[in-house]
Amino acid sequence: MSETQSTYNYKVVRQFAVMTVIWGIVGMLVGVIIAAQLVWPELNFGPYLSYGRLRPLHTNAVIFAFGGCALFATSYYVVQRTSHARLFAGGLAAFTFWGWQLVILAAAVTLPLGFTSGKEYAELEWPIDILITLVWVSYAVVFFGTIAKRTVSHIYVANWFYGAFIIAVALLHLVNSAAIPVSLTKSYSAYAGVQDAMVQWWYGHNAVGFFLTAGFLGMMYYFVPKQAGRPVYSYRLSVVHFWALIFTYMWAGPHHLHYTALPDWTQSVGMIFSLILLAPSWGGMINGIMTLSGAWNKLRDDPILKFLITSLSFYGMSTFEGPMMSIKTVNALSHYTDWTVGHVHSGALGWVAMVSIGAIYYLLPRLFGKAEMSSVKLITVHFWVATIGVVLYIASMWIAGVMQGLMWRAVNADGTLTYSFVEAVKGSYPFWAIRFLGGVLFLSGMLIMAYNMFKTIAGGKTEDVPVVAPVGHHA
Ligand code: HEM
Ligand code: HEM
Repeated sequence: MSETQSTYNYKVVRQFAVMTVIWGIVGMLVGVIIAAQLVWPELNFGPYLSYGRLRPLHTNAVIFAFGGCALFATSYYVVQRTSHARLFAGGLAAFTFWGWQLVILAAAVTLPLGFTSGKEYAELEWPIDILITLVWVSYAVVFFGTIAKRTVSHIYVANWFYGAFIIAVALLHLVNSAAIPVSLTKSYSAYAGVQDAMVQWWYGHNAVGFFLTAGFLGMMYYFVPKQAGRPVYSYRLSVVHFWALIFTYMWAGPHHLHYTALPDWTQSVGMIFSLILLAPSWGGMINGIMTLSGAWNKLRDDPILKFLITSLSFYGMSTFEGPMMSIKTVNALSHYTDWTVGHVHSGALGWVAMVSIGAIYYLLPRLFGKAEMSSVKLITVHFWVATIGVVLYIASMWIAGVMQGLMWRAVNADGTLTYSFVEAVKGSYPFWAIRFLGGVLFLSGMLIMAYNMFKTIAGGKTEDVPVVAPVGHHA
């Protein structure tokens, strides 16, 4: 084995791990700003910083910059450690880092300028879409190349989830972004009318299923057993829930288009698959949480484990809520209201952000040659600040959402509306203020994390770590 092949490639993992925290702060700061704009509309400055332009900047920054960097960092770490092999094609891995940062910068410039394809979560215009494709293909080559050169026979379940995430996102991106360019900054979707909507929400829901879930389940399957010092609760359950999850997600998209021009039977198919989705989702949650069985006491004073296990509780909660909201009669109340926004953030903050934060806290000392984070106490502070923040955010949105839905549908005996729309807006203000406060708390937690991270890096050394010889267990 050559010198370079005998150590793990931690450099690219370090880069993505640090940028996870930085982009987390940026994306959540924009979230806090748009939350503030809803409370104080006078904060809409000019066209560039108006709500309509900052909102897609928020979603792109938190999902693709923060979430994306967390997925790159952890998948590159996990695939090396569990394959007992150095990352395949180091140059290409470096390209995925710099290419992805370029995509993020391009998004940060073009979205405030108002360039958008108009498709939610796929707003970026075609030249950026091409760059995304190049980065993603390189990512696939690096990831699957590492699996191919593994020195152990089996492929650990975390890699199954990361692999499915990489393949599915490639498919979704290519199909949904198909467009006819008319200039460098403007293109029109290749699909028209209701078909465009159908393709968009096939993409949109699978973005939730694969970008915001499957990859993070990969994270769960490595970091929960590692931090708990216990094997995965059930390997068999992990295989069953893997196939059930990836099969079922693909059909659930139409629940975003209830009561639209989409054929009624299609909406019903979406609803039924969404209800079925509860089972594999909870299979995953149970497998993660039960990994701790016999070691529950560790939860008391290990803040990293607190992040990981709490994230799984939020995952279970949002994947119970989602199937309920997909029932047409429930959706008639919840759609267009803040209930949806509450659901989104119980998944996004409670599950995606918290599992990522836990995983990054696990990684940082190992990547920078330290025994543990500079301050374990500050991780505990971060945990409580973040948890209170999420609870304030989602509880206020539930109340506001149900209130809005009920006010919009209330009718008087003579058939006229009981409330004007603006009355529902007025009633929402206190809840938007509470959501803003929840956001400020969550963001403060990220700032604490950044401080802790830089203290850890400053006191650490970045040494090469030798590839572990396979001894029949996971690294
Ligand atoms: C079993 C799992 C889930 C099901 C069946 C489900 C179902 C739903 C339903 C019915 C809606 C409302 C659609 C509407 O009225 O417009 C929705 C919205 C949404 N959900 Fe979920 N959900 C699930 C899990 C999750 C998770 C875990 C996350 C995040 C990590 C998430 C993120 C979202 C997002 C971002 C939207 C808003 C989409 C938009 O309108 O922009 N969901 N989901
Ligand atoms: C400090 C933390 C955060 C704050 C204050 C925040 C705030 C907001 C606000 C105010 C909106 C617009 C809601 C509306 O249109 O009424 C929003 C939308 C959204 N945010 Fe966040 N957010 C935060 C973190 C996150 C994270 C970490 C993620 C994902 C990982 C995320 C994903 C989304 C998504 C997908 C939407 C669109 C929801 C929809 O269309 O229904 N947010 N956020």
